Amino acid sequence: MRNPEKINATRRSVLAAGVALPWTMGRNATSADVVPAATRPPTTPSMPAPTATLDVVRRSIDPLELGPATTFEGQLAGGKLPGAELRFREGDIFRVLVNNRLFEPTTLHWHGIIPPNLQDGVPGITQAPIPPGGSILYEFPLLQTGTYWYHSHFGLQEQLGLAGPLVIEERADPYDAAHDEVLMLFDWIAGSPDGVIPAIRSGVERPGFPASMDFPSSPSHTLDGRPWNVDVYPPGLLANGRPAKDPGVLKATVGRPTRIRIINAGPSTFFTVRLAELGMTLVEADSNPVAPLPTDRILLGPGERCDVLVTPKREGAWTIEAAGLGLPFVARAVLATDGADPSSARPVVGAPGRATTVEDLRATFDTRPPEGPVRTFDLPLGGNMKDYLWSIGGEYFAEDYVPEPNATPLDVEAGSRVRITMRNPTKMAHPMHLHGHFFRVRTRGRSWDDVDLPLKDTLTVLPGDTAEIEFFCDNPGNWFFHCHNIYHLATGMARVVSYRVPLSTPAERGGR
Ligand code: C2O
Ligand code: CU
Repeated sequence: MRNPEKINATRRSVLAAGVALPWTMGRNATSADVVPAATRPPTTPSMPAPTATLDVVRRSIDPLELGPATTFEGQLAGGKLPGAELRFREGDIFRVLVNNRLFEPTTLHWHGIIPPNLQDGVPGITQAPIPPGGSILYEFPLLQTGTYWYHSHFGLQEQLGLAGPLVIEERADPYDAAHDEVLMLFDWIAGSPDGVIPAIRSGVERPGFPASMDFPSSPSHTLDGRPWNVDVYPPGLLANGRPAKDPGVLKATVGRPTRIRIINAGPSTFFTVRLAELGMTLVEADSNPVAPLPTDRILLGPGERCDVLVTPKREGAWTIEAAGLGLPFVARAVLATDGADPSSARPVVGAPGRATTVEDLRATFDTRPPEGPVRTFDLPLGGNMKDYLWSIGGEYFAEDYVPEPNATPLDVEAGSRVRITMRNPTKMAHPMHLHGHFFRVRTRGRSWDDVDLPLKDTLTVLPGDTAEIEFFCDNPGNWFFHCHNIYHLATGMARVVSYRVPLSTPAERGGR
């Protein structure tokens, strides 16, 4: 005779595993009802289909439309630049199949998304790379809304175009927008990024710029009076994958807002975005709501996003211009009402106002973290153009172009508040990005007790500035923290925030 205790235990463990039960098990089963395991109907649930499939392929493209000098083989999600848009609704399950059809490994990272640690897409830290010809299904619940993007986190693949928008719409639109548009900015170097760092190190004048092309007039190397240095010189800039001379069109309706989700997916270029005559109202930064801020010019570093609302008062077409800082190029799109001719949009003219930066942002909700012990890190940003090695806290992360890596993890404990001070004595701006968390930014003259410090996941630290961020440790795992200029990342500018628990003590082992 069977032991009823044993049968119950089995049933419990089946339930605990979340597997669908055969109908016989759903009733008050007596021991006689239970079918021996081998003859039960199958309990394997059929796998839900992915919500999106990203085929990562090689394709020769010339997005700047300048001919052979700017044609190169991209590595593209869905064969396009930007990569295929991923769009979800609040509460959806993220279920994305990535097929790697490249001749080299890849991984994709969901920038700004807070996934379970092992789906974060960083090779060597949270996952093994997807081999050539391999696939991975990324699957997790979405707990967020707003504007994000995805990109390869493998080597310098992002420079070859492996990046795309990722949007999570609110169930009820808080802005009552007539149109919801993405504006993804990119810099295309039309060549192998593998040559860039050796070129910089050997003193080539404009790494990334095709030797066969003439460099136009010298650009202004300033941002609102600060000197602005550039290390890579793309031959042009892209908005939604299109060159400035042939801009794409974003839709508008008189009297109703268009929401524009602006994403700086440029591997190394900082942009200032203008919509001069119309102006914009900034409503979200890195997917987090901020007090609505009218502005006509916004600074956006690599990895940063902002959502703006634009409401035309009459029929017309307007140029949105994203100037590459320190570069003689712009990216362009046109915002046009239904009745207007997009080609009637005039170029943005007039002196720009001061660019809106993080200093101007106020959160619309209380961003203070829960109570917890405070752990501080003092991490100066370092590096120079001569050796072209970049560091955080004087340490270099083990990346492809780092001869002597020595970076140690930043150990943290769940339940604590971490505050990081980043002094930037270098002559370059660094867009510092933390995976798996949003952080508060203590801007000039403000206090950690202020309820409205803005929340971000990427922060531009300007040359000569000091930035302070704070985050709450509620997401155990190993999380990358790095500069989002991919050439700075590849030359060492990264650390890992690593959740640690104390090892069990001899006393806890008990016994003898
Ligand atoms: Cu978009 Cu590790 O970053
Ligand atoms: Cu940097």
